Amino acid sequence: MIAILGVGRVGAALGPHLSNLGYQVVYGAREPGREDVVELVEKTSNGAQAVSVSEACQMADWVVVALPYSAMESALHEMGDLDGKIVVDVTNALVMGDNGLMKMALDNSSSAEQLQASKPDAKVVKAFNTVGFHVMANPAAAGGSVSVPLAGNDADAKIAVAEVIEKMGLEAIDVGPIEHARSLESMAVLYLVPYLQGRMDDAFEFYFRRGASPKKSKGVRAAG
Ligand SMILES: NC(=O)c1ccc[n+]([C@@H]2O[C@H](COP(=O)([O-])OP(=O)(O)OC[C@H]3O[C@@H](n4cnc5c(N)ncnc54)[C@H](OP(=O)(O)O)[C@@H]3O)[C@@H](O)[C@H]2O)c1
Repeated sequence: MIAILGVGRVGAALGPHLSNLGYQVVYGAREPGREDVVELVEKTSNGAQAVSVSEACQMADWVVVALPYSAMESALHEMGDLDGKIVVDVTNALVMGDNGLMKMALDNSSSAEQLQASKPDAKVVKAFNTVGFHVMANPAAAGGSVSVPLAGNDADAKIAVAEVIEKMGLEAIDVGPIEHARSLESMAVLYLVPYLQGRMDDAFEFYFRRGASPKKSKGVRAAG
């Protein structure tokens, strides 16, 4: 069972998609009985339900965190013990800067690193944070391949998350340990620039093209 914490744009994109692939979803919500949450549960197949954040975390073996960074501190208390669980962190630790664009809220850290530090025995994987919610719901909306870079310290957890991502129709790519989540969350700063500047025609999704190994391209030397 997969708990999805947050019933906003990301939660409402991932939940129905995952349930359509056969996963059982439980939403962790502040107000599980609210009309829009009940509607989301109805839209989510496979016996979905909505409960509190702490109940959802207890029920599930995977937890997807799709919360605003500002909610993370209080949510960490509610999540309780996540020992041994795969925790997929979608959250971006961003704040609005003086120039009207987002910037990182943390120096030398990230939401995912804080989550891993707070739950040392959870298997935290940073994922989906560089992808638009509409593309999480329907990858075809991007009009081409979309990468989902993964950062985390548990290799098996990253493989398991990558399998789900591939089933969704997205391309997973392992970019290393949990510390690299700060680079991934910085990518979200870039992602949001066209939206915040009202240049919707320039909106993009990230795609990391494989096959660029210098071993494959004769005559090109790798940088030292
Ligand atoms: N939107 C995107 O395309 C996108 C893409 C990649 C990553 N992200 C990241 O994903 C995260 C969620 O984004 P979003 O766009 O889904 O945000 P959103 O639409 O604002 O939804 C946030 C959800 O979190 C819930 N929430 C807030 N505080 C909570 C708390 N203390 N306990 C439980 N639930 C709480 C809200 O509950 P209520 O409904 O009760 O207000 C709401 O359901 C953010 O960190 C964002 O940076 C977003």
